[in-house]
Amino acid sequence: MTLRPRRLRATPAMRRLVSETLLHPADLVLPMFVREGAGAPVPISSMPGVVQHSLDSLRAALVAAAEAGVGGVMLFGVPEHKDAIGSGATDPDGILNVATRAAVEEVGGALVVQTDLCLDEFTDHGHCGVLDAEGRVDNDATLERYRDMALAQASAGSALLGLSGMMDGQVAAVRDALDTDGFAGNPILGYAAKYASAFYGPFREAVQSSLVGDRRTYQLDPANRREGLREIDLDVAEGADIVMVKPAMSYLDVLADAAAASPVPVWAYQVSGEYAMIEAAAAHGWIDRRRAVEESVLSIRRAGADAVLTYWATELAGWLR
Ligand code: PBG
Repeated sequence: MTLRPRRLRATPAMRRLVSETLLHPADLVLPMFVREGAGAPVPISSMPGVVQHSLDSLRAALVAAAEAGVGGVMLFGVPEHKDAIGSGATDPDGILNVATRAAVEEVGGALVVQTDLCLDEFTDHGHCGVLDAEGRVDNDATLERYRDMALAQASAGSALLGLSGMMDGQVAAVRDALDTDGFAGNPILGYAAKYASAFYGPFREAVQSSLVGDRRTYQLDPANRREGLREIDLDVAEGADIVMVKPAMSYLDVLADAAAASPVPVWAYQVSGEYAMIEAAAAHGWIDRRRAVEESVLSIRRAGADAVLTYWATELAGWLR
């Protein structure tokens, strides 16, 4: 026998030298929830260790993220009041826009402050868009709301708009709105291949979602790999500066396809249910928490993600330092 692959696995130093994939704090993005009217952080029971922030606790967590060296944060708002069109999303004094201004003031120079551009946190029916007379999500009417939301977020200082609503033409519509109103320099992250996933379960608690039913008329069918690539192509053609695959771990094939085909950076979102599963198993002592966290994020990078949104971003960045 002359072929012995184990030669390169014999010592920690050799393994480190031949490692194909490296994790780096700058490639991690921390999603954060900010709750309107909260005087103190509110725990999210299905996401142990993650909270709905008050504005004060947000600032402290932002400083910790920056000190750990993470690349950016993605902000989500949890408003006190909701209505049919998600008015809070376009109100300059709505919680997400207020939080964005605070975040930019606190850490805007150190990391990329990003915002979720979607109506679901702000609508009383919980859908990502506005509804027509029959109660269906109205694609083109929603684009008008997204245009206004983009301008509100850009005005608040968001450095990257995360378009997660899965409406057809959303990237082109937002690009046009930004370019027309003096924000031609603001980049767009298109959640291009976003699947209708059970793994968003804990997130619904995190944002106190009012959704009844599901999002299958706009998010992708988990059965479809080719369609994921088609959505990537469309978002790139419409002007997305970065594209996203979401969730991450159950969609590594889609991620690998996207990474091979995309001319722009491809990111992946390790979502709330992925976080909750590992935390729950670790809490039972069934898996080694730190190893499982590192391996999960490493596998997402190995599959082709240039950066990863993960609720462990700050903690993981600390381990990497
Ligand atoms: C929509 C949005 C969702 C998530 C991020 N943006 C929920 C959904 O599409 O139902 C889920 C993120 C997660 O589960 O961690 N604004």
